[in-house]
Amino acid sequence: MKDKLEQLLATATTQIGEAGTEAQLQSVRVSVLGKKGDLTDIMKGMRDLSPEERPQVGALANEVKDRFEELFAKRLDALRESDIAQRLSQEKIDITLPGSTSVAGRKHPITLVTEEITELFASMGFGVAEGPEVEQDFYNFEALNIPKDHPARDMQDTFYVDDETVLRTHTSPVQIRTMLKGQPPVRIIAPGTVYRRDSDITHSPMFHQVEGLLVDKNVTFGDLKGILTTFVHEYFGKNIGVRFRPSFFPFTEPSAEVDMQCVICKGKGCRVCSQTGWLEILGSGMVDPEVFKSVDYDPTVYSGFAFGMGIERIAMLKYGVNDLRLFFENDVRFLRQF
Ligand code: FA5
Ligand code: MG
Repeated sequence: MKDKLEQLLATATTQIGEAGTEAQLQSVRVSVLGKKGDLTDIMKGMRDLSPEERPQVGALANEVKDRFEELFAKRLDALRESDIAQRLSQEKIDITLPGSTSVAGRKHPITLVTEEITELFASMGFGVAEGPEVEQDFYNFEALNIPKDHPARDMQDTFYVDDETVLRTHTSPVQIRTMLKGQPPVRIIAPGTVYRRDSDITHSPMFHQVEGLLVDKNVTFGDLKGILTTFVHEYFGKNIGVRFRPSFFPFTEPSAEVDMQCVICKGKGCRVCSQTGWLEILGSGMVDPEVFKSVDYDPTVYSGFAFGMGIERIAMLKYGVNDLRLFFENDVRFLRQF
């Protein structure tokens, strides 16, 4: 019996050493300790031993069992370690592969320019006002001294919702809405979306404007020139030329359109400025007394100036974009550049 046990341990030790995988190792264990295993067999034979022999053999059997478990555990550790080592040496991560990055969104150039313009005017003391895009005829035209059948309505081809309702053709109705809220002083800008039946390389049926309105005592055309010149110089640079051209708007008198030197060709003449070296960026003027009357401001006490600039024009000049339609096509290759 003792010999059998020693023989068993010797064989099992060899088998454990030869087991190349965890599965093979486990089957060695089953062949020794399982229900039909060799050691189990030997233990069963114990009952045929004499009472003197039994404790000795029993003790030896336990020793063999302990020894086996010890060898088994060691081998199992070794196999698992070499398994990990092998996987580490074979499985490779190519750290030069591009990672899977999530593309960050960014602001649309029109949004960017609107924010920059707003900040600049805020630094000169202007607050921000807003009005609806679906607007009543009264605010868009009537109160701005453009009665029905007035030829000036043809200046801005209008989308009508019904007889009394339009898609606002400019941000000027916000002037009226603001002035109706209270007496001067008023110092606001009103950025927003406007609509016209207009479509070509420099005109879009939906575009953006920033309205400006300053009303107080003793406001002069000099203030208008100063504020708008400062805006161009701060936003585009001190050496950019600005000129005020006489013009007409029913809601301002006198009126002026403001041109700035084309920043794309530095005034030499190019496609964007139609070879003139200048680009119209806004309409402006001193608030017409008729407008003051419609909002109940006393034109003998107060004066003011207003302007409305096209944001797309400003954005084209700021970023050197030569086709206005690019802003609305939403091509990510274009939008990513800002
Ligand atoms: C106006 O809309 C007046 N409300 C501006 C104004 C406000 C004058 C306050 C006096 C006092 P105008 O139609 O010229 O004016 O438009 C102003 C600017 O909007 C233009 O200089 C131009 O830059 C831009 N603009 C006009 N039409 C379009 C269009 N279809 N697409 C893109 N920009 C346009
Ligand atoms: Mg114009």
